[in-house]
Amino acid sequence: MTIPNTNSMLSFSCMVSAAVVILGRTCSCLHFTFPSFNPGNRDDFSFSPGSAISNNSLQITPNAGNMSHRSGRVVYARETLKLWNSKRTALTSFRTEFVLNILPQNGTAGEGMAFMLTNNPSLPSDSSGQWLGICNSQRDGAKTNRVVAVEFDTRQSYADEFDGNHFGFDFNSIKSFRQYPLSNQSIILASGSDVWVSMAYNGTTRLFGVDLVQHSTIGGQLKSSGSLIVNLSHYLADDIYLVFAGSTGDFTQLNQIKSWNFTTIENDATVGIRVGIKVFLAIAALVIFSTCLVGVFFMWRRLTRQRRLANRNLEKMIDAHGPVKFKLRELRRATANFSPTRKLGRGGSGTVYLGHINRMNLEVAVKRVSMGNADSNRGEQEFVAEVNTISKLSHRNLVKLIGWCHEGSELLLV
Ligand SMILES: *[C@@H]1O[C@H](CO)[C@@H](O)[C@H](O)[C@H]1NC(C)=O
Ligand SMILES: *[C@@H]1O[C@H](CO)[C@@H](O)[C@H](O)[C@H]1NC(C)=O
Ligand SMILES: *[C@@H]1O[C@H](CO)[C@@H](O)[C@H](O)[C@H]1NC(C)=O
Ligand SMILES: *[C@@H]1O[C@H](CO)[C@@H](O)[C@H](O)[C@H]1NC(C)=O
Ligand SMILES: *[C@@H]1O[C@H](CO)[C@@H](O)[C@H](O)[C@H]1NC(C)=O
Ligand SMILES: *[C@@H]1O[C@H](CO)[C@@H](O)[C@H](O)[C@H]1NC(C)=O
Ligand SMILES: *[C@@H]1O[C@H](CO)[C@@H](O)[C@H](O)[C@H]1NC(C)=O
Repeated sequence: MTIPNTNSMLSFSCMVSAAVVILGRTCSCLHFTFPSFNPGNRDDFSFSPGSAISNNSLQITPNAGNMSHRSGRVVYARETLKLWNSKRTALTSFRTEFVLNILPQNGTAGEGMAFMLTNNPSLPSDSSGQWLGICNSQRDGAKTNRVVAVEFDTRQSYADEFDGNHFGFDFNSIKSFRQYPLSNQSIILASGSDVWVSMAYNGTTRLFGVDLVQHSTIGGQLKSSGSLIVNLSHYLADDIYLVFAGSTGDFTQLNQIKSWNFTTIENDATVGIRVGIKVFLAIAALVIFSTCLVGVFFMWRRLTRQRRLANRNLEKMIDAHGPVKFKLRELRRATANFSPTRKLGRGGSGTVYLGHINRMNLEVAVKRVSMGNADSNRGEQEFVAEVNTISKLSHRNLVKLIGWCHEGSELLLV
């Protein structure tokens, strides 16, 4: 019986096709878009105490109650960003855009906010004021921070800072690696008017670029930009959290994000290969899936055929009155190959043998009709007539016709 084999072969190929489908999803992609934020988006983020979704925005620091000397973080909680592409041949390229709105609460702004890539998403203690929710006095500059940030600083905290209105690149420290003043471009971060920020990282060239746009009160757009070359793997490990951080000090402000989108970009150099692999995997999956289907079909057909055969045999055995067509082989076996020791008698039209049909567990008499070679056609006609006649007869003194056989020149009655 081959069904167990077919079965295991079938489940194997089905497993393989499932594996191919899973392996086919090898992209380390991350995409999301928030045109605005509403309470329904709460589960997409994790919030430090006092941070919230309010006024259709992410409130990075509290926008109610005690707002001074606070820090906060809002973390995208659905997925992490992979540092490397799936084959670890290149750093992941990405682009992100967001609209920030910083609204001072008491005339003077303080302190600032930042977009961060980090492996440590939770808010450090004592990170208010100049620390921007990025780090604290003990951990400033520590490699274990694993932070790459673009800060939007609204207050001068130490002598090396240009002023209280700049952006900069930060690596594990709030002391910016590079700063870009904004006042001489007439961009004011803490003006309560929207600032469009777009960032892009090219994992091949390692170019990290930032662009800022603010609408001028007198019309037109105010722009600033900065970029540097950085190998993110020198600062970050895999599974990077996307985080907004912010803080207030003696002076307070609302640190708000009004919309945000993020997308990874497939690396050009590997796109062709990946498409090739995907096509190959798709074809492989298709082939294996079709094999699966064909296998299932054949198994189904075999099973139904066997069931049908079994049914037919059963019918024959139940309806013992109808004549059964026997195979010569079976009747030879039943009569020990027409052994003379089984001979019951001999009549005009043939010899009768004692037989035993195993599958019916039945003792029978088998009449081997003798047929003159010269007139086999007549013999057959007689035989058919005999079968039809006897099969219609039913009398307790007459032997019942169980079946018949006609193979080659052999005509047999059972
Ligand atoms: C809410 O948003 C509107 C429109 O951006 C703004 O005018 C208003 O000041 C905001 N209110 C608070 C409490 O943030
Ligand atoms: C506001 O919160 C900060 C940080 O928890 C705390 O240092 C400060 O004392 C609080 N101010 C008031 C008035 O409660
Ligand atoms: C998000 O992405 C779309 C399409 O690239 C862009 O038009 C939009 O300005 C982006 N920015 C934000 C903050 O949603
Ligand atoms: C602004 O300052 C006033 C007076 O010092 C204070 O009563 C008020 O709570 C402050 N408002 C905010 C939003 O900090
Ligand atoms: C603004 O100031 C910075 C620093 O002094 C300088 O590098 C930059 O070129 C200035 N930009 C403009 C538009 O003057
Ligand atoms: C990265 O820079 C290279 C060289 O300029 C360019 O060919 C490629 O398209 C860029 N990749 C992305 C994802 O922008
Ligand atoms: C970045 O640095 C890692 C080692 O930390 C190196 O393997 C990789 O090639 C570098 N990537 C680029 C684009 O230079």
